[in-house]
Amino acid sequence: MAMLCACMRFMLGALLLLTIFSIVPPASAQQRNTDNSVNPTASSVKEDSLLSELNRISGRCTIPDQKACTIEQPAGRDWRHFHEVTLRWIGGVAIIGILALLVAFYLMRGMVRIEAGRSGRVLVRFSAFERAVHWMTATCFVILAVTGLNITFGRPLLLPWMGADTFTTWSQWAKYAHNYLSFPFTLGVVLIFLMWIAWNLPTRVDVEWLREGGGIVGKKHPPADRFNAGQKMIYWIVVLGGGAIAASGYLLMFPFYGTNIANMQLAEIVHGVTAVLFVAAMLGHIYIGTVGMEGAFEGMWDGTVDANWAKQHHSLWAEKEAAKGDITDSPAHGTMQAAE
Ligand code: HEM
Repeated sequence: MAMLCACMRFMLGALLLLTIFSIVPPASAQQRNTDNSVNPTASSVKEDSLLSELNRISGRCTIPDQKACTIEQPAGRDWRHFHEVTLRWIGGVAIIGILALLVAFYLMRGMVRIEAGRSGRVLVRFSAFERAVHWMTATCFVILAVTGLNITFGRPLLLPWMGADTFTTWSQWAKYAHNYLSFPFTLGVVLIFLMWIAWNLPTRVDVEWLREGGGIVGKKHPPADRFNAGQKMIYWIVVLGGGAIAASGYLLMFPFYGTNIANMQLAEIVHGVTAVLFVAAMLGHIYIGTVGMEGAFEGMWDGTVDANWAKQHHSLWAEKEAAKGDITDSPAHGTMQAAE
């Protein structure tokens, strides 16, 4: 009798277990709605299955900033790829490419000399105000460029070399500098626009200058006014590139004032691409203003250029200045000639 009872208890237990398994659905079925789509509120749902089905993870949250309720979205992944891969490629190719071209060009062409030698007579090329604006903008630009490139290239290039603590401290100061120097830089771009616009509108002379290779590519010295076509390009790169960089930069500095996530991502793309191309263009400008051309740097340093330099590179401007009688003797430049 006892044996029969034990046997019946076992069979009853087994039946009960079978019933429970047959009415409770498996876990995977729990994650799906009746139409077989994923049920995002199911407790056992996995993040990657949600992502692959819905392509975004968002929900409800109680903090005031409702944007924080979206944790992942396709545009965010596209932007991250741009930031971490595409921009690095564009920047790397543009900057290393221009440096390689400048070195090759220097090796082939060398410094463009003042062919007639120094005359020892000088023309005023830039006023003290123009030089102050130029150097303020240039100093800000160089610091903005270095600190900005740190945002794009710092993690892969500097972090392994500096270590986490030093890189964090440097990056924090770099970010302060990047934010605050944007204001004098923007002022400099506005002043450059206003003070040199009159000499930077395109003319017929520019077409001829470009056709002749500008004197730096070939050996000819086509006529040019105060600024030649190459300098006018630099001017417009500074004005338009600087304008685009400033506008997109302020959108990033004051996030979500009149912008949404898509606009913020667009602002970052415009800012990053314009910045790396701007840096590449300015490397070309710095080359011509220093080792690329004899006699150019002093015009922006002490404000005067040798009369023969002016005749060679800016003949139309030199003629006008000569007609005004604005050529003076320069003991300083004469001494430099003797020393060379
Ligand atoms: C930091 C190194 C730099 C050096 C050594 C340098 C040098 C010069 C020189 C020598 C000139 C006068 C050229 C002439 O007399 O015809 C000049 C002009 C000019 N610079 Fe710079 N510059 C530098 C950086 C910058 C930067 C960062 C900007 C703007 C962001 C800038 C914008 C300009 C503009 C718009 C002109 C007038 C157009 C031209 O000559 O190309 N410069 N620079």
